[in-house]
Amino acid sequence: MTTVDDFNFENKKALIRVDFNVPLDGDFNVTDSNRIEAAKPTIIKILEDGGSAVLMSHLGRPKGERNPALSLSHICDKVSEVIGVQVKFIDDCVGEKAEKAVAELEGGEVLLLENLRFYEEEEKGDKLFAEQLSNLGEIYVNDAFGTAHRAHASTTIVAGFFPDKKCFGYLLAKEIKAIEKVMKTGEKPVTAILGGAKVSSKITIIENILSKIDHLIIGGGMTYTFVKAQGGKVGDSICEDDKMELALEILKQADAKNVKVHLAVDVLAANAFVNNADTQVVDVNHIPEGWQVSECGPKTKPLFDDVVNQFKTRLWNGPLGDFEMENIADGTIELGNSIAEATKNGAFSLV
Ligand code: 3PG
Repeated sequence: MTTVDDFNFENKKALIRVDFNVPLDGDFNVTDSNRIEAAKPTIIKILEDGGSAVLMSHLGRPKGERNPALSLSHICDKVSEVIGVQVKFIDDCVGEKAEKAVAELEGGEVLLLENLRFYEEEEKGDKLFAEQLSNLGEIYVNDAFGTAHRAHASTTIVAGFFPDKKCFGYLLAKEIKAIEKVMKTGEKPVTAILGGAKVSSKITIIENILSKIDHLIIGGGMTYTFVKAQGGKVGDSICEDDKMELALEILKQADAKNVKVHLAVDVLAANAFVNNADTQVVDVNHIPEGWQVSECGPKTKPLFDDVVNQFKTRLWNGPLGDFEMENIADGTIELGNSIAEATKNGAFSLV
């Protein structure tokens, strides 16, 4: 894996894809700067080498519209504060204006470009747009971990314009090492906990991990596609009817690979998708009509906890229930605490 440590950036302009998709309050103040902090070591390394940094990111989902509320100008002061360098801002991310701003950049300076998604070409992975971006740096650095799953112009496509001059930043490199630790060298048995609403959005992960893991906890909304596929009654719970075949196939594959699958045995069902809904605990296979699952039940929590605590390596992706709602976030929070505890006691956990 090629990282920023493999380059000397002296007198070089680094084009860095960061993920500064940070939350803003009503006055456009950054309310959580974790993603900016996470990119800092890469930027500092480049500046300390004597290079300059051109930062590009998306913010929100403007869908090709120039939406002033989603301008990266709002975060420029926060980036300056975190990096410790007065960051310059240019209100475009391609074209003459941006190219001029880059040309004027001196060693040790940082330039933040405008929101990439003000151009619909970004999400479409447009080659011409990527080529325009590639004019803004001599070495391409990808440190946008939160966006690494998107084949967009500023991630996958632009990299093609830097055949020998591209690398990962420290953040992305660290995450890749961590996933390799689970997938290749993880101390067995390995447990994966997959939550979230849809089987369809997790299928690639499931297919990739089945031959590496020993236990699979399936939680969250996607559970009910598995439950219904096996003949259970899911009431009004989220369920992808067109993925039931796929769910059965996953169970078959897991069985063939000796992976033990753990599903909820009871659930907390709610009569509406609101925080103060009426709730009742029911058997996972008998969820009444008019009720929908909000999270796993009291018998399931210790069962999952037990699996999490028994094993040395664990990978967790996705919540176990409607964690956004205070009254029904317990299952997800308890699982998080349980993983944190096991990690303190020497296990390796990747969340
Ligand atoms: C995120 O916040 O999840 C990343 O920045 C990716 O954003 P996206 O889901 O809008 O592509």
